[in-house]
Amino acid sequence: MSSPLIGRRLALSLFPWSHRLFKLVSASGCRQVSKAAAKAEVEFDYDGPSMKTTVPGPRSQALTKQLGEIQNVAAVNFFCNYEESRGNYLVDVDGNRMLDVYTQISSIPIGYNHPALLKLVTNPNNMSAFVNRPALGILPPENFPDKLTESLLSVAPSGMSRVQTMACGSCSNENAYKAMFITYRNKERGYSAPSVEDNTSCMINQAPGCPDLSILSFMGAFHGRTLGCLATTHSKAIHKLDVPSFDWPIAPFPTLQYPLEEFVRENAQEEARCLEETEDLIVKWRQKGKPVAGIVIEPIQAEGGDNHASADFFIKLRKIATKHGCAFHVDEVQTGGGSTGKFWAHEHWGMDDPADIVSFSKKLLTGGFYHKDELQADKPYRIFNTWMGDPSKNLFLCEVLNVIRKENLLDEVARSGKALLNGLYALQVQYPGLLSRARGQGTFCAIDVCDDATRDKILVRTRDKGILLGGCGQQSIRFRPSLVFKEYHVHFFLNVFNDVLAEFK
Ligand SMILES: Cc1ncc(COP(=O)(O)O)c(C=O)c1O
Repeated sequence: MSSPLIGRRLALSLFPWSHRLFKLVSASGCRQVSKAAAKAEVEFDYDGPSMKTTVPGPRSQALTKQLGEIQNVAAVNFFCNYEESRGNYLVDVDGNRMLDVYTQISSIPIGYNHPALLKLVTNPNNMSAFVNRPALGILPPENFPDKLTESLLSVAPSGMSRVQTMACGSCSNENAYKAMFITYRNKERGYSAPSVEDNTSCMINQAPGCPDLSILSFMGAFHGRTLGCLATTHSKAIHKLDVPSFDWPIAPFPTLQYPLEEFVRENAQEEARCLEETEDLIVKWRQKGKPVAGIVIEPIQAEGGDNHASADFFIKLRKIATKHGCAFHVDEVQTGGGSTGKFWAHEHWGMDDPADIVSFSKKLLTGGFYHKDELQADKPYRIFNTWMGDPSKNLFLCEVLNVIRKENLLDEVARSGKALLNGLYALQVQYPGLLSRARGQGTFCAIDVCDDATRDKILVRTRDKGILLGGCGQQSIRFRPSLVFKEYHVHFFLNVFNDVLAEFK
């Protein structure tokens, strides 16, 4: 117990120093960061926030009103000037420049307007990919297999050499579920052709053609908002309200105590309870005549409140899935792409055979899912839509992966993440009535606030001071910077956050 506390005090004592350094750097007004503080790779970054109005400012408000005549704008925060945004900084239409620690719901891999990506767009050899969007499932371009190999397959999870691209996260999960159902039924039929009854009954949504199979998911999970995904999403009522759903089993996700290393015994008991209940549910649903074809889980429940579980939990869950013939689908839509300090969060489990399906989107720039060979659909048009992804996104992803490798960004994330988590530990010691349950892996961090109203006020105050954060779960703040978020950004953020928290003490 004593050493982490010493660590936290040390981290806190660092903040004032780094804050002053940052102010000195910012005072130059130069867009380049201090030579002492950063390397050349991030020179496209701005040197600090610059606030001209409250947010949303007058221009944003006018545009919100204009868009409100066309769409529901209740979720719009403010309008952005993406041309002027750079690196870790998002610029709005009123000229406010904010350090972005939320990055478009965790979907910007290497910052705004990265020079490597701008160069790619201006390369005449790439023009055709931007201009001609193909129906990839029937008419792929010549370089498609090479580009997939260079991009997605170069970071394929262990044991997987097949990948299907899709447009977004929900679309990826939706099709991954279908792949699990199709595989399950093919196995049940002994891989023989579907019967006439299968083919006729499916046309009127009846069994056996539309079988009563299920997907097991976890309370607090978020897997998207399309109809199938929504049946496995259990984070907030607003996502689900008024939409018919399936009678599929929902297992408890462990509610752990943080820091994890201080509550190993208690957390192990909680995880054992959840695993036991999961297995009971699989048996119960089989008895109900709705066998579980697949289990879907996030390595860290994100939208649901940044809920963690141990590697041991996932290893045991994977074994339960295999034992009961359920495909194991790991949803890395939010955790994938490096922010946990490894390219895939499931790599932290240290398994050779972590999953049967891994879905992705966000930082990968294209949606899709990797899968084991046996989950390959057996016929055309079963896993299919018009676009099935977008080859221009694979070009960007190739370049993003080059930058990650060249600039050792995963090491950078591990370093920044350590500084961020230590800082959050220090702040929760300093503001015990306000903050609790600091947690994280890499820069994929979160902290709880005493209640949701205070959390929301803190988010607004922090934004007024030029830093963008996001909420998740009931009362958590989540940190989702891009991979070019350096230690000095962390220290700057912690100091501003400290100032904001002092107002709420
Ligand atoms: C874990 C997870 N799965 C699926 C989704 C859905 O992705 P999309 O919003 O691209 O449909 C999200 C989105 O936040 C997510 O975090």
